[in-house]
Amino acid sequence: MIHCEGLVKIFKSDEIEVVALQGLNLSVKEGEMMAIIGNSGSGKSTFLNILGGLDRPSAGQVRVGPWDLLKITDDQLVEYKRNTVGFIWQNNARNLLPYLTAIENVEMPMMLNGKVDRAYAEQLLEWVGLKERMHNKLHQLSGGEQQRVAIAISLSNRPKLLLADEPTGSVDTQTSDMIMNIFRKMNQELGVTIVIVTHDLSLAGKVDRVVAIRDGLTSTEFIKRNPNLDAAGGEQGHNSALQQVHEAYVVVDRVGRLQVPREYLEALEINDKASMEFDGDTIIIRAPKSLEG
Ligand SMILES: Nc1ncnc2c1ncn2[C@@H]1O[C@H](COP(=O)(O)OP(=O)(O)O)[C@@H](O)[C@H]1O
Ligand SMILES: [Mg+2]
Repeated sequence: MIHCEGLVKIFKSDEIEVVALQGLNLSVKEGEMMAIIGNSGSGKSTFLNILGGLDRPSAGQVRVGPWDLLKITDDQLVEYKRNTVGFIWQNNARNLLPYLTAIENVEMPMMLNGKVDRAYAEQLLEWVGLKERMHNKLHQLSGGEQQRVAIAISLSNRPKLLLADEPTGSVDTQTSDMIMNIFRKMNQELGVTIVIVTHDLSLAGKVDRVVAIRDGLTSTEFIKRNPNLDAAGGEQGHNSALQQVHEAYVVVDRVGRLQVPREYLEALEINDKASMEFDGDTIIIRAPKSLEG
Protein backbone atom coordinates (compact mmCIF):
# COMPACT_ATOMS: atom_id res chain seq x y z
CA MET A 1 0.00 0.00 0.00
CA ILE A 2 2.74 2.45 0.98
CA HIS A 3 6.32 2.30 -0.17
CA CYS A 4 8.69 4.97 0.89
CA GLU A 5 12.42 5.05 0.37
CA GLY A 6 14.89 7.81 1.08
CA LEU A 7 12.05 10.26 1.52
CA VAL A 8 13.24 13.82 2.07
CA LYS A 9 11.24 16.89 2.96
CA ILE A 10 12.88 20.27 3.26
CA PHE A 11 10.99 23.37 4.37
CA LYS A 12 12.62 26.48 2.98
CA SER A 13 11.98 30.00 4.07
CA ASP A 14 13.99 33.16 3.36
CA GLU A 15 16.64 32.55 5.99
CA ILE A 16 16.40 28.95 7.05
CA GLU A 17 16.03 25.44 5.75
CA VAL A 18 14.50 22.75 7.91
CA VAL A 19 15.13 19.16 6.88
CA ALA A 20 12.03 17.59 8.41
CA LEU A 21 12.52 14.17 6.79
CA GLN A 22 16.03 13.07 6.05
CA GLY A 23 15.71 9.92 3.98
CA LEU A 24 12.89 8.05 5.60
CA ASN A 25 12.19 4.42 4.69
CA LEU A 26 8.89 2.74 5.40
CA SER A 27 6.62 0.20 3.77
CA VAL A 28 3.10 -0.58 4.85
CA LYS A 29 1.18 -3.60 3.61
CA GLU A 30 -2.37 -3.44 2.42
CA GLY A 31 -4.75 -4.11 5.30
CA GLU A 32 -2.18 -3.32 7.97
CA MET A 33 -2.99 -1.16 10.99
CA MET A 34 0.16 0.46 12.27
CA ALA A 35 1.33 3.37 14.37
CA ILE A 36 4.11 5.90 14.04
CA ILE A 37 5.52 7.24 17.29
CA GLY A 38 8.09 9.91 17.94
CA ASN A 39 8.77 13.05 19.92
CA SER A 40 7.36 16.38 18.95
CA GLY A 41 9.23 17.80 15.97
CA SER A 42 10.46 14.41 14.74
CA GLY A 43 8.63 14.73 11.40
CA LYS A 44 5.49 12.65 12.01
CA SER A 45 2.99 15.21 10.72
CA THR A 46 5.23 16.11 7.82
CA PHE A 47 5.28 12.47 6.79
CA LEU A 48 1.53 12.01 7.19
CA ASN A 49 0.80 15.20 5.25
CA ILE A 50 2.90 13.91 2.37
CA LEU A 51 1.07 10.58 2.41
CA GLY A 52 -2.22 12.44 2.51
CA GLY A 53 -1.32 14.55 -0.52
CA LEU A 54 -1.48 17.73 1.57
CA ASP A 55 2.18 18.49 1.08
CA ARG A 56 4.74 17.63 -1.58
CA PRO A 57 7.89 15.59 -0.94
CA SER A 58 11.25 17.21 -1.81
CA ALA A 59 13.06 14.05 -2.94
CA GLY A 60 13.15 10.29 -2.64
CA GLN A 61 10.49 7.75 -3.42
CA VAL A 62 6.97 7.67 -2.07
CA ARG A 63 4.27 5.52 -3.59
CA VAL A 64 0.76 4.86 -2.33
CA GLY A 65 -1.00 2.12 -4.27
CA PRO A 66 -0.54 2.99 -7.95
CA TRP A 67 0.30 6.65 -7.24
CA ASP A 68 3.81 8.08 -7.30
CA LEU A 69 3.47 11.09 -5.01
CA LEU A 70 6.67 12.67 -6.28
CA LYS A 71 5.46 12.77 -9.87
CA ILE A 72 1.73 13.13 -9.39
CA THR A 73 0.14 16.13 -11.16
CA ASP A 74 -2.05 18.65 -9.34
CA ASP A 75 -5.19 17.28 -10.99
CA GLN A 76 -4.31 13.72 -10.07
CA LEU A 77 -3.61 14.89 -6.53
CA VAL A 78 -7.17 16.19 -6.21
CA GLU A 79 -8.48 12.81 -7.32
CA TYR A 80 -6.06 11.03 -4.99
CA LYS A 81 -7.25 13.06 -2.00
CA ARG A 82 -10.90 12.44 -2.85
CA ASN A 83 -10.75 8.73 -3.50
CA THR A 84 -7.66 7.08 -2.10
CA VAL A 85 -7.00 8.61 1.31
CA GLY A 86 -9.05 9.62 4.31
CA PHE A 87 -7.54 12.00 6.86
CA ILE A 88 -8.26 12.68 10.52
CA TRP A 89 -6.62 15.60 12.27
CA GLN A 90 -6.19 16.10 15.98
CA ASN A 91 -7.75 19.52 15.63
CA ASN A 92 -11.43 18.86 15.04
CA ALA A 93 -12.02 22.23 13.47
CA ARG A 94 -10.24 20.89 10.40
CA ASN A 95 -12.41 17.77 10.22
CA LEU A 96 -15.89 19.08 10.89
CA LEU A 97 -18.56 21.56 9.87
CA PRO A 98 -20.11 22.58 13.23
CA TYR A 99 -23.40 23.99 11.89
CA LEU A 100 -24.34 20.71 10.17
CA THR A 101 -25.62 17.48 11.73
CA ALA A 102 -23.42 14.42 12.09
CA ILE A 103 -24.98 12.70 9.09
CA GLU A 104 -24.75 15.85 6.95
CA ASN A 105 -21.06 16.04 7.83
CA VAL A 106 -20.54 12.46 6.71
CA GLU A 107 -22.46 13.09 3.49
CA MET A 108 -20.56 16.27 2.61
CA PRO A 109 -17.51 14.58 1.00
CA MET A 110 -19.89 12.24 -0.85
CA MET A 111 -21.76 15.28 -2.16
CA LEU A 112 -18.53 16.91 -3.34
CA ASN A 113 -17.81 13.65 -5.11
CA GLY A 114 -21.22 13.65 -6.78
CA LYS A 115 -22.78 10.56 -5.16
CA VAL A 116 -24.46 10.59 -1.77
CA ASP A 117 -24.98 7.16 -0.23
CA ARG A 118 -27.28 7.75 2.75
CA ALA A 119 -27.34 4.08 3.78
CA TYR A 120 -23.54 3.95 3.93
CA ALA A 121 -23.36 7.23 5.87
CA GLU A 122 -25.78 5.74 8.42
CA GLN A 123 -23.78 2.52 8.55
CA LEU A 124 -20.57 4.44 9.28
CA LEU A 125 -22.18 6.42 12.09
CA GLU A 126 -23.58 3.21 13.53
CA TRP A 127 -20.10 1.64 13.43
CA VAL A 128 -18.63 4.56 15.39
CA GLY A 129 -21.45 4.22 17.94
CA LEU A 130 -23.42 7.33 16.99
CA LYS A 131 -26.57 5.82 15.52
CA GLU A 132 -28.75 7.65 18.04
CA ARG A 133 -27.03 10.97 17.52
CA MET A 134 -26.74 11.22 13.76
CA HIS A 135 -29.24 14.04 13.50
CA ASN A 136 -27.62 16.12 16.20
CA LYS A 137 -25.72 19.22 15.21
CA LEU A 138 -22.04 18.88 15.96
CA HIS A 139 -21.96 21.53 18.67
CA GLN A 140 -24.40 19.31 20.59
CA LEU A 141 -21.85 16.50 20.69
CA SER A 142 -18.93 16.00 23.09
CA GLY A 143 -15.29 16.19 21.96
CA GLY A 144 -14.99 12.40 21.83
CA GLU A 145 -18.24 12.08 19.86
CA GLN A 146 -17.03 14.72 17.42
CA GLN A 147 -13.82 12.78 16.95
CA ARG A 148 -15.89 9.69 16.12
CA VAL A 149 -17.84 11.72 13.55
CA ALA A 150 -14.47 12.72 12.10
CA ILE A 151 -13.62 9.03 11.67
CA ALA A 152 -16.94 8.40 9.88
CA ILE A 153 -16.30 11.41 7.60
CA SER A 154 -12.82 10.24 6.74
CA LEU A 155 -14.25 6.92 5.55
CA SER A 156 -17.22 8.31 3.63
CA ASN A 157 -15.55 8.04 0.22
CA ARG A 158 -14.36 4.50 0.91
CA PRO A 159 -10.64 5.31 0.96
CA LYS A 160 -8.07 2.51 0.78
CA LEU A 161 -5.82 4.30 3.23
CA LEU A 162 -6.78 6.06 6.44
CA LEU A 163 -4.34 8.51 8.00
CA ALA A 164 -4.84 9.83 11.52
CA ASP A 165 -2.59 12.49 13.06
CA GLU A 166 -2.77 12.21 16.87
CA PRO A 167 -6.45 11.22 16.77
CA THR A 168 -6.54 10.64 20.52
CA GLY A 169 -4.45 13.67 21.39
CA SER A 170 -7.19 15.66 23.04
CA VAL A 171 -9.49 13.00 24.53
CA ASP A 172 -9.42 11.03 27.80
CA THR A 173 -8.11 7.46 28.09
CA GLN A 174 -11.53 5.85 27.89
CA THR A 175 -12.44 7.72 24.70
CA SER A 176 -9.00 7.05 23.33
CA ASP A 177 -9.53 3.28 23.86
CA MET A 178 -12.88 3.49 22.17
CA ILE A 179 -11.39 5.32 19.18
CA MET A 180 -8.65 2.71 18.83
CA ASN A 181 -11.28 -0.04 18.91
CA ILE A 182 -13.22 1.75 16.18
CA PHE A 183 -10.09 1.91 14.03
CA ARG A 184 -9.61 -1.83 14.52
CA LYS A 185 -13.21 -2.51 13.58
CA MET A 186 -12.96 -0.39 10.43
CA ASN A 187 -9.72 -2.11 9.56
CA GLN A 188 -11.48 -5.48 9.83
CA GLU A 189 -14.85 -4.57 8.31
CA LEU A 190 -13.56 -2.49 5.41
CA GLY A 191 -10.04 -3.83 4.99
CA VAL A 192 -8.81 -0.23 5.05
CA THR A 193 -5.09 0.24 5.73
CA ILE A 194 -4.60 2.52 8.74
CA VAL A 195 -1.62 4.64 9.78
CA ILE A 196 -1.95 6.37 13.14
CA VAL A 197 0.51 8.98 14.38
CA THR A 198 0.76 9.27 18.12
CA HIS A 199 3.11 10.14 20.92
CA ASP A 200 1.10 7.94 23.27
CA LEU A 201 2.98 4.67 23.67
CA SER A 202 0.09 3.04 25.49
CA LEU A 203 -1.83 2.87 22.20
CA ALA A 204 0.88 0.72 20.72
CA GLY A 205 -0.53 -2.59 21.93
CA LYS A 206 -3.62 -1.97 19.84
CA VAL A 207 -1.80 -2.03 16.52
CA ASP A 208 0.12 -4.67 14.57
CA ARG A 209 3.32 -2.71 14.28
CA VAL A 210 4.86 0.48 15.62
CA VAL A 211 7.57 2.43 13.87
CA ALA A 212 9.53 5.06 15.75
CA ILE A 213 10.65 8.19 13.94
CA ARG A 214 13.63 10.05 15.30
CA ASP A 215 15.01 13.19 13.64
CA GLY A 216 13.14 12.55 10.41
CA LEU A 217 14.30 8.95 10.06
CA THR A 218 12.60 5.69 10.89
CA SER A 219 14.79 4.28 13.61
CA THR A 220 13.12 1.38 15.41
CA GLU A 221 10.32 -1.02 14.54
CA PHE A 222 8.23 -2.83 17.10
CA ILE A 223 6.43 -5.85 15.70
CA LYS A 224 3.78 -7.71 17.66
CA ARG A 225 5.00 -11.05 18.97
CA ASN A 226 1.58 -12.49 19.38
CA PRO A 227 -1.09 -10.76 17.31
CA ASN A 228 -3.83 -11.94 19.69
CA LEU A 229 -2.24 -10.35 22.72
CA ASP A 230 -3.29 -6.87 23.75
CA ALA A 231 -1.08 -4.53 25.73
CA ALA A 232 -1.81 -3.99 29.40
CA GLY A 233 -1.74 -0.29 28.48
CA GLY A 234 -2.79 2.32 31.02
CA GLU A 235 -0.48 3.05 33.94
CA GLN A 236 2.72 1.32 32.87
CA GLY A 237 1.95 2.01 29.24
CA HIS A 238 5.46 3.11 28.44
CA ASN A 239 8.38 1.65 26.58
CA SER A 240 8.21 -1.47 28.74
CA ALA A 241 4.60 -2.13 27.76
CA LEU A 242 5.60 -1.68 24.15
CA GLN A 243 8.34 -4.27 24.54
CA GLN A 244 6.14 -6.75 26.41
CA VAL A 245 4.00 -7.31 23.34
CA HIS A 246 6.37 -6.17 20.63
CA GLU A 247 9.76 -7.29 19.44
CA ALA A 248 12.01 -4.28 18.79
CA TYR A 249 14.08 -4.08 15.60
CA VAL A 250 16.43 -1.39 14.42
CA VAL A 251 15.62 -0.29 10.87
CA VAL A 252 18.37 -0.96 8.33
CA ASP A 253 18.04 0.68 4.94
CA ARG A 254 18.94 -0.76 1.57
CA VAL A 255 22.54 0.41 1.69
CA GLY A 256 23.00 -0.81 5.26
CA ARG A 257 22.58 2.39 7.25
CA LEU A 258 20.98 2.28 10.65
CA GLN A 259 20.41 4.82 13.38
CA VAL A 260 22.09 4.21 16.74
CA PRO A 261 20.03 5.65 19.60
CA ARG A 262 21.46 8.88 20.94
CA GLU A 263 21.54 7.50 24.52
CA TYR A 264 23.90 4.72 23.40
CA LEU A 265 26.18 7.15 21.60
CA GLU A 266 26.28 9.47 24.58
CA ALA A 267 26.95 6.63 26.99
CA LEU A 268 29.99 5.58 24.97
CA GLU A 269 30.95 9.16 24.07
CA ILE A 270 30.81 8.34 20.37
CA ASN A 271 30.73 11.53 18.31
CA ASP A 272 31.50 11.14 14.64
CA LYS A 273 33.25 7.78 14.46
CA ALA A 274 33.00 4.32 15.96
CA SER A 275 34.74 1.03 15.41
CA MET A 276 32.78 -1.93 14.20
CA GLU A 277 33.64 -5.57 14.57
CA PHE A 278 32.04 -8.68 13.16
CA ASP A 279 32.74 -12.03 14.86
CA GLY A 280 30.82 -14.20 12.46
CA ASP A 281 27.58 -13.87 14.35
CA THR A 282 27.45 -10.54 16.12
CA ILE A 283 28.27 -7.00 15.10
CA ILE A 284 29.84 -4.93 17.84
CA ILE A 285 30.03 -1.14 17.75
CA ARG A 286 32.56 0.49 20.07
CA ALA A 287 33.89 3.93 20.76
CA PRO A 288 37.11 4.46 18.80
CA LYS A 289 40.22 3.55 20.80
CA SER A 290 41.71 6.61 22.35
CA LEU A 291 45.02 7.44 20.67
CA GLU A 292 46.71 8.43 23.91
CA GLY A 293 45.57 5.14 25.50
N1 LIG B 1 5.49 24.36 7.18
C1 LIG B 1 6.66 24.26 7.79
N2 LIG B 1 7.63 25.19 7.60
C2 LIG B 1 8.84 25.09 8.22
N3 LIG B 1 9.17 24.10 9.06
C3 LIG B 1 8.24 23.16 9.31
C4 LIG B 1 6.93 23.19 8.70
N4 LIG B 1 6.24 22.11 9.15
C5 LIG B 1 7.05 21.46 9.98
N5 LIG B 1 8.25 22.08 10.09
C6 LIG B 1 9.40 21.63 10.90
O1 LIG B 1 9.70 20.28 10.56
C7 LIG B 1 10.02 19.52 11.71
C8 LIG B 1 9.06 18.35 11.86
O2 LIG B 1 7.77 18.85 12.20
P1 LIG B 1 6.47 17.94 12.32
O3 LIG B 1 6.40 17.04 11.14
O4 LIG B 1 5.31 18.82 12.56
O5 LIG B 1 6.81 17.07 13.62
P2 LIG B 1 5.85 16.20 14.56
O6 LIG B 1 4.53 16.05 13.90
O7 LIG B 1 6.59 14.91 14.74
O8 LIG B 1 5.77 16.95 15.85
C9 LIG B 1 10.00 20.49 12.87
O9 LIG B 1 11.31 20.95 13.07
C10 LIG B 1 9.11 21.60 12.38
O10 LIG B 1 9.44 22.82 12.99
MG1 LIG C 1 2.59 16.59 14.59
